[in-house]
Amino acid sequence: MSKTVSALIVAAGRGTRAGGGLPKQYRPLKGEPVLRHTLRALLSHGALRDIQVVIHPDDMALYKAVTAGMPRLRPPVLGGDTRSASVLNGLEALAADAPDTVLIHDAARPFLPPVIIDRLLEALHHAPGAFPALPVVDALWQGKEGRAAAPRSREGLYRAQTPQAFDFATILSAHHSAEEPADDDVALAVAQGIQVAIVEGDVCNYKLTTPQDFARAKRETKMDIRTGNGFDVHAFTKGNHITLCGIDIPHSHALLGHSDADVAMHAITDALFGALAEGDIGQWFPPSEAKWKGAASDIFLKKAVERMAVRGFTITHIDCTIICEAPKIGPHSAPMRQRISEITGIDLDRISVKATTSEKLGFTGRKEGIAAMATATLVKL
Ligand code: CTP
Ligand code: MG
Repeated sequence: MSKTVSALIVAAGRGTRAGGGLPKQYRPLKGEPVLRHTLRALLSHGALRDIQVVIHPDDMALYKAVTAGMPRLRPPVLGGDTRSASVLNGLEALAADAPDTVLIHDAARPFLPPVIIDRLLEALHHAPGAFPALPVVDALWQGKEGRAAAPRSREGLYRAQTPQAFDFATILSAHHSAEEPADDDVALAVAQGIQVAIVEGDVCNYKLTTPQDFARAKRETKMDIRTGNGFDVHAFTKGNHITLCGIDIPHSHALLGHSDADVAMHAITDALFGALAEGDIGQWFPPSEAKWKGAASDIFLKKAVERMAVRGFTITHIDCTIICEAPKIGPHSAPMRQRISEITGIDLDRISVKATTSEKLGFTGRKEGIAAMATATLVKL
């Protein structure tokens, strides 16, 4: 059986070195608070059961506002005066529902590449602890009164990052028996003879500590623009209306399908899943499951929109083409665009729904069914 994994995020510090008004984990970066980026980076990895965040007693309202709508978050717990005390409070909160593995991560490291989590989980097969680190590359000097005093060897020296991953019971008991706080959980574990493996870290996974770190993050902002396509077909069957983009349209036939057979909304939904590289409707809502029978297709589209929000993308444009000889789509395109706008939360002028016949050629030309294709453009700033 695969092991359960929880993340514990320490966010109870005051960020004094970073300056600025708000504690650094709540400051905006690329249009969103730092903590939200951090949570999303963890949530984008499929292995996590849930996330426990440890916050400062003054930050409850900030925390609630910043995490609104995010999935798999346990109720926050309050931190202590030191990072170690905050970690311990988080571990104790998790103990009621103990995972096998815990990933202890700084809220102030929002750029965590998910591949680091894979490296950590792999390393835990061979040791009770593991952490990402980078070899020191600069020359090291002992300084004295502002002058270089003695060179130090960088041989075998590493700079530690987080998440630091541990067998849950091992690190909880190490925290209980620790005599003094440590800079990180690796220090605390190693002081008690626990083996901790080093895995490759990433230069992107730096901690926002000083105002210069915030300036660097701003400079490095890259726009992520993606285009996804979707295509779907449903056959006609007996009936008196069809549903396209959530709008019921009277017709001489119905469309056959497991759900409401809304071929246009399916194409749009698949375009979104495509842009996210997260499979398609069939994977999220298997036709083999009876509960989706006759389902209104807006639940599929809502799921794709939710995944998009979790990943930090917004839709900039949707274009859908419906291919059929009849019914005439033109008169219905305004309410169809309106419905898609309501579900996705994007402006009407970013949604296009149009139609074409196939000149009586092929299955659509023979009026055996309707096809639809869609393109969606997503952007992350
Ligand atoms: N942290 C915590 N509880 C503390 C101290 C730190 O949860 N008592 C958390 C911070 O919120 C941060 C992480 O531990 O996500 C790493 O600590 P650090 O970078 O030192 O953050 P701060 O303590 O907030 O910053 P500073 O030391 O500049 O005040
Ligand atoms: Mg600190």
